[in-house]
Amino acid sequence: MNESLHIPAHIAIIMDGNGRWAMRRSRPRTMGHQAGLKALRTIVEHCGQIGVSELTVFAFSSENWSRPEREVSRLMELFMRALDKEARELHENGVRIRFIGDTGAFSPGLQEKITRATSQTTGNTRMTLNVAVNYGGRWDIVHAARKLAGAAVQGLIKPEDINEKLMTEQICLGTSSDPDLFIRTGGEMRISNFLLWQSAYTEFYFSSVLWPDFSPDELDKAVAVYQSRERRFGLTGEQIGERTA
Ligand code: IPE
Ligand code: IPE
Ligand code: MG
Repeated sequence: MNESLHIPAHIAIIMDGNGRWAMRRSRPRTMGHQAGLKALRTIVEHCGQIGVSELTVFAFSSENWSRPEREVSRLMELFMRALDKEARELHENGVRIRFIGDTGAFSPGLQEKITRATSQTTGNTRMTLNVAVNYGGRWDIVHAARKLAGAAVQGLIKPEDINEKLMTEQICLGTSSDPDLFIRTGGEMRISNFLLWQSAYTEFYFSSVLWPDFSPDELDKAVAVYQSRERRFGLTGEQIGERTA
C-alpha cells in the first residue's frame, strides 16, 4: 500500500471463512464467528488509521437463516452479547455504526440494541461502519422498487420519473458513495447476494485468507492492488489518462 496514493474511501467486505477457520482447529463453528468478531475490531481500527471513511461488512445474509438452527441461534447470541460493548468502543473511537438489512426479523431485544447502537453513535464523523445483517442485495432492490411503486400509486411520482437516482435514494447506503473496493475473504469468488446495486463499478479483490486471519497487512495488500488498477467507468484508458494528467 502506498499511503500517498488514493486510499479507497469506502470498502465493502464479505467476511467469509469463519466456519472453516474453526473446523481446521477442530473447534465448533461458533468459535470461528467469535474469532471473526475480533478480526473485525482490528480491521475497523486499521481502516480508521489509514483514512478509509466508510466500511461496510457482511455479517449475516438473508440466506444464512437456512443454516443449522444451532449455528443461527449461536450467532444471534453473539450479536446480542457483543453489540453494547462494541458500540461503546466504536463510540469512544468516533465511529458511527449503522445497520443495513431487514432488521425487523430479529428478536425485539436485538432490534433494541441495534437501534440503541445506531442512535448512540449517530453524531460520530471519524468513520462509518455499516453492518449488513439479514441483508440480501436482491431484497434491497425489491424493497426499493416497492417503495417507488407505492409512491407512484399515491401519485407522488410518475412511473417515468423512476431513474437510477431515485432508485439509489431508496436503496441501502443511498446517501453513501458506492464502495470503491470490495473484498471477499475465504477463497470463494462470488458475490453471494451482497451489494448488487451498489457495486456496479466497484473493484473486486478476492483473498484466500480466512476472515479470522485477515490482518491489517492483508488489508494493505488489497489496498495496494486497488491502487495499481485503472478505474475506467466505461471510458477508454486514454480518456482516463487525459483526466488525471
Ligand atoms: C462467514 O463465515 C460468517 C457468516 C456467514 C455468518 P462462514 O460461517 O460462512 O464460514 P465458512 O465459509 O463456512 O468457512
Ligand atoms: C456470505 O457468506 C455471507 C456472509 C459472510 C455473512 P456465505 O458463507 O453465506 O456465502 P456462500 O454460501 O459461500 O455463498
Ligand atoms: Mg461461508
